[in-house]
Amino acid sequence: MKIIIADNAGFCFGVKRAMDMSMEVLNENNDSIHSLGPLIHNRQAVDKLNRLGLRVANSIDEIENGKVIVRSHGIPYEIYEKISKMDLELIDCTCPYVKSIHKKVNEYWRKGYKIVIIGDKDHPEVIGINGWCNNEGIVINTEDEATNLPNLNKICIVSQTTNTLDKFNTLSKIVSQKSSNVEIFNTICNATNLRQSSCKEVAKKVEAMIVIGGYHSSNTNKLVEISKKYCQNVYHIETVNDLSFKELSKYEAIGLTAGASTPDWIIKEVIEKMENINNDEMMKAIEDSMVYL
Ligand code: F3S
Repeated sequence: MKIIIADNAGFCFGVKRAMDMSMEVLNENNDSIHSLGPLIHNRQAVDKLNRLGLRVANSIDEIENGKVIVRSHGIPYEIYEKISKMDLELIDCTCPYVKSIHKKVNEYWRKGYKIVIIGDKDHPEVIGINGWCNNEGIVINTEDEATNLPNLNKICIVSQTTNTLDKFNTLSKIVSQKSSNVEIFNTICNATNLRQSSCKEVAKKVEAMIVIGGYHSSNTNKLVEISKKYCQNVYHIETVNDLSFKELSKYEAIGLTAGASTPDWIIKEVIEKMENINNDEMMKAIEDSMVYL
């Protein structure tokens, strides 16, 4: 069996930075340290951080004192304001690329533009972005939603960082017909682009594709979507335990990629298991060809 690992699989720069910053804080002292929402969209990593003392708060109102970690997705402006008035030390792990979207959105909102965010309205990153234009942005995620927008005076379009380029181009083209004054900012993260195109290249070459990452991770689900376009057999798994030896041994070439919030140790375990399938098969072949005298 041939295993092809896609380039750029696993932690992106922003998630790695958030993990490193949080680990540093946890190693110093783990008295009352909370993250606002799970630090990353990966259950196994969150469990590991929990064992090290990191608690997850779903709202800033649940935290009384100590340190609060803002994850790479970022938060709305009003939460920063709230934190500054509380007895809390802020550890801001917002990805710098997300921060730059906040700045842009705030700048254009102040100039009187209607902000249109292409993304999932329930995703924390999108909620955070909208919080930099007083929650007055319009979030769209489908062609219908784009078509149904009213005509507007001035529009500024931005994207959730994990969108596919195809979707961003299609929706922003429809939205740009709603005004004669439109500013379009492709804010899709380059890490996402690179991961998605490497995934596509590998998926084209293999019989089966394994995508490792949280079942609720939006960027992992996009990799699954892309893989399914180019490969018939796609397996979305969270950990090595979700892999079936039997299932995989029927393929000759298998591709592998992982979402931006999948820790290295989980990827390694999967690769090791797949290599073992190779070894087991080799042993079986050797045994089959042996002549016992
Ligand atoms: Fe940042 Fe891009 Fe990752 S926006 S959090 S480096 S996917």
